[in-house]
Amino acid sequence: MLFSRKIEPIALDIGSTYIKLVQLKGSGKSYSLVKYGMVPLPAEVIVEGAVMDANRVSEAIKELLNSQKVKTKEVVLSVSGSSVIIKRISIADMTEEELAESIKWEAEQYIPFSIDDVNVDFQKLGPGAAEGQADVLLVAVKKDKINDYVNLVKDAGLEPVIVDVDAFALANMCELNYEVEAGITALLNIGASVMNINILRDGVSIFTRDITVGGNKYTEALQRDAGLSYEDAEKVKRGVAVDGVDREQLSGIMSSVTEEIVAQIQQSFDFFRSTTGSDKVNHVLVSGGCAKIGQFIKVLSERIEIPVDVINPFKNIKVDQKHFDAEYISDTAPLAAVAVGLAMRRPSDR
Ligand SMILES: Nc1ncnc2c1ncn2[C@@H]1O[C@H](COP(=O)(O)OP(=O)(O)OP(=O)(O)O)[C@@H](O)[C@H]1O
Ligand SMILES: [Mg+2]
Repeated sequence: MLFSRKIEPIALDIGSTYIKLVQLKGSGKSYSLVKYGMVPLPAEVIVEGAVMDANRVSEAIKELLNSQKVKTKEVVLSVSGSSVIIKRISIADMTEEELAESIKWEAEQYIPFSIDDVNVDFQKLGPGAAEGQADVLLVAVKKDKINDYVNLVKDAGLEPVIVDVDAFALANMCELNYEVEAGITALLNIGASVMNINILRDGVSIFTRDITVGGNKYTEALQRDAGLSYEDAEKVKRGVAVDGVDREQLSGIMSSVTEEIVAQIQQSFDFFRSTTGSDKVNHVLVSGGCAKIGQFIKVLSERIEIPVDVINPFKNIKVDQKHFDAEYISDTAPLAAVAVGLAMRRPSDR
């Protein structure tokens, strides 16, 4: 269209410990970084994905917009956790229009919530296992959850244009930055309270799940078992020395939490294999704050006996060294994975 303005919305990943902001210029396989920043949230403001203090979140968003001198109003955001249900289902084949009509009724049997309480979306994946069937990716998100998050950005003066799901943002970001791998690749985004799992076969998502485990487990264990304050526990996680505590005890606590999280990942992979009858996962890519925890990647790789790499969401994005601090970007990159995936979305996409 001649006069249409190509909107490049900002992306906000509203996590429970950091709100991340990314804006990208470009499309397809070619993007450059326009804005990038993050702001921390105090522990009690968002708890396990539930917004406890909406005011403080909106204030934090405004602060972030100001510090990054953002003028754009359009925003892409995302939701995740137990309010999001993603399922691959096989149903009688029909047209997109027919599907749009009937998906709500089809969905009912697959989701643990009342159908009136969720927004349902779908994507046709291809022919199903049996004749006359189609494989459909079903996505249901609790309306409450969407409303809460949409209101956060509206209260900060923004206009939400797309509400995405963390696991899909992650897959988009990977498509941009990594070659499609033959075989089974697991994408893990391990934040503070939620781990998003997206398992791809030959680059196509075949299993998606969010589980409530993440970096908070370390903080809680350090507070409980070593009597540390929240602030000191956060320091210890980052490998910063804290006076008057037994280092050995701390590293013992840290490694037992790592083992616990790794065991949960292993369980999820086993569940994935048993429900999909699929081959073994043969490569794991990890993002989120937990990727930065000393030893985590190494221990994960040793236990599951497959290669594990940390995701760099800026790998294929042009970053102007004059405008951005390269060290800050590489230091925080694993935390920006979802935000980068969101920033690739355009309102005209659909
Ligand atoms: N340098 C670091 N070393 C160790 N841990 C870190 C580091 N930076 C962040 N973390 C931890 O990572 C977690 C934050 O990661 P992330 O930003 O991915 O989570 P979030 O999106 O805020 O949380 P969620 O999505 O679960 O609500 C916190 O638990 C934080 O303590
Ligand atoms: Mg997160």
